[in-house]
Amino acid sequence: MLFDFSKLSPADRQYYLHNAVAPRPICFASTIDQKGNVNLSPFSFFNVFSSNPPIVIFSPARRIRDNSVKHTLENVSAVPEVAINIVTLDMVQQQSLASCEFPKEVNEFEKAGFTATPATRINPPLVKESKIQLECAVIEVKPLGNERGAGNLVICEVLCMHINDTLLDENKKMDPRHLPLVGRLGEDWYTVVNEQNLFQVPKPNTSLGMGIDSLPSAIRTSQILTGNDLGQLANFASIPPLDPAFQDPHLKQIVHYFSVNPDQMELEIHRYASQLLSKGEAGTAWQVLLYSVVS
Ligand SMILES: Cc1cc2nc3c(=O)[nH]c(=O)nc-3n(C[C@H](O)[C@H](O)[C@H](O)COP(=O)(O)O)c2cc1C
Repeated sequence: MLFDFSKLSPADRQYYLHNAVAPRPICFASTIDQKGNVNLSPFSFFNVFSSNPPIVIFSPARRIRDNSVKHTLENVSAVPEVAINIVTLDMVQQQSLASCEFPKEVNEFEKAGFTATPATRINPPLVKESKIQLECAVIEVKPLGNERGAGNLVICEVLCMHINDTLLDENKKMDPRHLPLVGRLGEDWYTVVNEQNLFQVPKPNTSLGMGIDSLPSAIRTSQILTGNDLGQLANFASIPPLDPAFQDPHLKQIVHYFSVNPDQMELEIHRYASQLLSKGEAGTAWQVLLYSVVS
């Protein structure tokens, strides 16, 4: 189905964008007004856009309901500083509570039960319970429109960042398996990073992958191998040479069992290669596939 955005209501545009452009990280923004009143609200229109200069952007949008603007936007326009606190699973319910539309004078740190702790370079306080906090100067506020749902880009330069010691190893590196980051999807859906849903895709940056168009046609047009399988095979710089010493008991079994039916043998070899690829064993998968290509 094609959705023509010029024909959708602001609420529907928001609905489909929220569901499709997801999961989004959450900027838990602590800001102050000119009198020093503190505000704390979550924003999932948020990401990093540059590391040099170090720039993150979030977007408090005009309310779809009545086109009013958010207190956070008013605050960063008056005092161009923001403490961005990263949200983890242990904080998610309280951060949601902080998104209630409390009156301007209400301090959401108190309402949501978070501890305000002084920042080092800016005036808005940090959320003590957050394991990562970014102290930022707001360098520009760019409205994207005046209608209901219009975003306002709050462009922030990161001045410094606090990372809880428990997240750093002896080389000051971070392991995503130890940081249950929370992301926002559409409606009430959230996701969390944990070891079960993390996986790695090796960067193809050392040498250029040959590309799917360079794979042998029997592999490229396989009924078994998936797009993910082909992506891994084509990430090799060239078709690897057949290793004469390569031995594989399962391949041997397939060859033995299906020797009278070469078409079926090819399917079984592809199935086995696909299993190897799903375990990240691309080199072995190539050797297995080469057997069917050359035989
Ligand atoms: C997880 C989460 C993400 C949100 N993301 C945004 C967002 O990106 N932009 C926005 O305008 N409102 C967003 N909201 C809603 C605001 O947090 C909410 O309108 C809040 O009351 C604004 O507070 P303020 O008026 O004190 O700034 C989000 C709410 C939640 C719970």
